[in-house]
Amino acid sequence: MSAPQSEPQARKPFLYVVVCASGIAGDVGKLITAAQEANWDVGVVVTPQGLGFIDATAVEAQTGYPIRSAWRQPGDPRPLPPADAIAVAPATFNTINKWAAGISDTLALGILCEAHGMGIPITALPYLNAAQAAHPAYARSLDVLREMGVLLGSYEPHKPKAGGGADRFRWEEALELLAPVVSRQA
Ligand SMILES: Cc1cc2nc3c(=O)[nH]c(=O)nc-3n(C[C@H](O)[C@H](O)[C@H](O)COP(=O)(O)O)c2cc1C
Repeated sequence: MSAPQSEPQARKPFLYVVVCASGIAGDVGKLITAAQEANWDVGVVVTPQGLGFIDATAVEAQTGYPIRSAWRQPGDPRPLPPADAIAVAPATFNTINKWAAGISDTLALGILCEAHGMGIPITALPYLNAAQAAHPAYARSLDVLREMGVLLGSYEPHKPKAGGGADRFRWEEALELLAPVVSRQA
């Protein structure tokens, strides 16, 4: 009698969490935990400036994948599986404007600029102050990202120089915004 064939293990959907250089980036473990509880595997991509804001060792231990921040060398293997969805959290003023303008001078921006054309669902949770948000480029950038289908978080920019608004920043909103889009694709 032949041995029963075991079912191949279904791969979990893979979420890239793109982290920018913001004072709250160090709390990204909250989003990683929430995503893993919602059955995502998670890999983290961080901007070069953002590296100074996170505990890379803790993040890598939590995800089980190396953090990506720089481009790999030609011929090197890809460190992460392909993304089924991307959450940019926190999304800085700088990265939002560059992404909308099609600038690709960090690995994070390169991934984001390409992901749109590849049809990968993307959410972005901006975290910035009201003085940054008052710059006319910011509203234009959000319009462009909306036109691209990016699902934007609802955080209202905080007062500048007043301690930020970390208590109002809902990391889990990224998963709430992606949930209907990702299940429709499955
Ligand atoms: C302590 C500190 C906190 C910062 N927090 C924010 C922030 O919450 N949002 C933001 O847009 N920029 C913030 N900045 C400015 C960004 O770090 C800066 O614009 C940087 O160039 C962003 O790089 P990135 O978009 O490539 O991550 C902060 C800077 C410092 C030093």
